[in-house]
Amino acid sequence: MTITPYSILLRKRDGESLTEAEIRHLVNGACGEGWSDAQLGAFLMAAVIRGMDTEETHALTRAMLESGERWKLVDDVPGVGDKHSTGGVGDKISLVLSPLLAACGIPVAMLTGRGLGHTGGTADKLESIPGLSLELNRQLTVELLQDVGMAIGMATGEIAPADRKLYSLRDVTGTVESLPLITSSILSKKLATGTAGVVFDLKTGDGAFLTEIDEGRRLARMLVETSRSLGTPAKAVITDMNQPLGRWVGHASEVLETLQCLDGEGPEDVMEVTYVLCLELAQLLGKPLERRQLEEAITSGAARRVFDRWARIQGAEESWLDDPQLPLAPVEVPILAPRPGHLAKVANRRLGLLLSTAGGGRKVPGDRIDHEVSLRIDARLGDSVEEGQELARLYLRKEDEELVEHFRGCFGIEDEGNSPPLIYETVG
Ligand code: URA
Repeated sequence: MTITPYSILLRKRDGESLTEAEIRHLVNGACGEGWSDAQLGAFLMAAVIRGMDTEETHALTRAMLESGERWKLVDDVPGVGDKHSTGGVGDKISLVLSPLLAACGIPVAMLTGRGLGHTGGTADKLESIPGLSLELNRQLTVELLQDVGMAIGMATGEIAPADRKLYSLRDVTGTVESLPLITSSILSKKLATGTAGVVFDLKTGDGAFLTEIDEGRRLARMLVETSRSLGTPAKAVITDMNQPLGRWVGHASEVLETLQCLDGEGPEDVMEVTYVLCLELAQLLGKPLERRQLEEAITSGAARRVFDRWARIQGAEESWLDDPQLPLAPVEVPILAPRPGHLAKVANRRLGLLLSTAGGGRKVPGDRIDHEVSLRIDARLGDSVEEGQELARLYLRKEDEELVEHFRGCFGIEDEGNSPPLIYETVG
């Protein structure tokens, strides 16, 4: 029987499993061949409601990956690795992990994205460095990897065009929340660079896209199994996102905190998650490291030197490299504990959304963002606090008492409060 969009839609609507040929037909359709937006939207909704089995998920990921350019970096840089976070608040791990692993002899290539919803994007954070360019092609990436051992850029238009189309439709049709669609979307971009292995930082908790650990576990397994089925070894680490990671949330302030981490003054939680992911990725790539080697790369200054050399080659201004200033927005507002007790709740997702409203995020694609709007975190979940103690400090562009009140409402003090684990488990 001839395959048509209509025949595929009927079968998916009725809960049947699609064949590889049908899935390729759909993905060609997402690249402009014979499917209308209405038909693509109908497929997405049917896929969310009816689900997709393992074979369909693998076939969809493969077809989306093959819809665009593939770099096969491993052909020129054997042993190159990659790391992906499912997104969180204050997550600057990629910026610390890449130079750290590079300093230990493990090259890392990463194509990153812009902020999404309540989370900040690594690409946006890096743009607070004057002059730094995130435009990478394969040749430049290989040169960077061979020279300094790291490359961070933005996914170009040639990578996974099917995902660009499907993602934009999912965004407006209520079809983002589907593990097979999320898996194929993430992997169609991640696997396009062709590294020797990838480690996923699967965030769970209030500030993560998947708040429940069971769902996080399912996505972790799906990402790892699908990557492997497409030939890329993978592992996932499930980590906590019930409070911001580190002391700072914001764009410029997170780059500043990255430099502090590389200078040996990073907060414990950021360093711990970074070390665990580094050790997992190194092992996955067949070049196991010891924690001591990572610590030495920090204390000797080797990781910081890699960061500076990398930033220089990707265009950071010399004056910034000589004196890396990253100003914060001028209106400082302390958030104080209204009573004594323990910090029992942080509305982490809401904090991210409020920072976005304060100028740190976009209302529509293409908006300019305010890199200087920031939040400094001074208390962690479970900490005992006095009345009037500073829990956090806002750095806003302008005074806005209503917004500040919303920020205050994100911190809950109770008689008791627990500190959540930082790392839950490893998958794969
Ligand atoms: N990130 C992606 O790239 N795709 C998704 O579907 C969700 C998160």
